[in-house]
Amino acid sequence: MKIIIINGSARKGNTLTAIEAFVKGASKKNEIEIISPEKLHIAFCKGCGACQCYKGCVDKDDTNPTIDKIVDADMILFATPVYWWGMSAQLKLIIDKCYCKGLQLKNKKVGTIVVGGSPVDSIQYELINKQFDYMAKYLSWDLLFQKSYYANARDELSKNAAALKDLEDIGNNL
Ligand SMILES: Cc1cc2nc3c(=O)[nH]c(=O)nc-3n(C[C@H](O)[C@H](O)[C@H](O)COP(=O)(O)O)c2cc1C
Repeated sequence: MKIIIINGSARKGNTLTAIEAFVKGASKKNEIEIISPEKLHIAFCKGCGACQCYKGCVDKDDTNPTIDKIVDADMILFATPVYWWGMSAQLKLIIDKCYCKGLQLKNKKVGTIVVGGSPVDSIQYELINKQFDYMAKYLSWDLLFQKSYYANARDELSKNAAALKDLEDIGNNL
């Protein structure tokens, strides 16, 4: 499969650690590319409607090449830290811009990884997972996994051997 991973964190911290554990397992049998929104120039969606949800975006920045990679993928992994009880703005930016080819994202395989500084039974994970549940229903996604991890300091998840194994196994078993 072609797997596209969107890394919602700009720091080399827990989200990246989680992604790397997943990639360790998944890269054996799959082609993987990681999108780092902070390295791109992507203006936020202005809701102009010119795209009509299939034509692509009028913005002459990195939007169209990025969204085309997502459209082209068999599987999308959305990875994000919890920011203010939600996903990070940089992940949301990419998701909003997906609107420009909206229905071409139907029937993808999808996974989500959420890392936050509060225990995993806190409401923020439920809120974020619910948002992805509804996107998945709308776009007929095959939601393969939704993983939540508790890690706050930058290197905290790298000390959680069980979490890393869990993610590597998920990658291996795709
Ligand atoms: C702007 C900001 C907002 C945050 N809001 C929350 C929050 O609402 N709930 C929570 O559990 N953690 C919150 N955190 C903590 C991060 O989710 C946590 O440190 C996470 O491990 C960061 O992931 P990273 O190392 O990949 O950047 C916040 C951190 C930042 C910088």
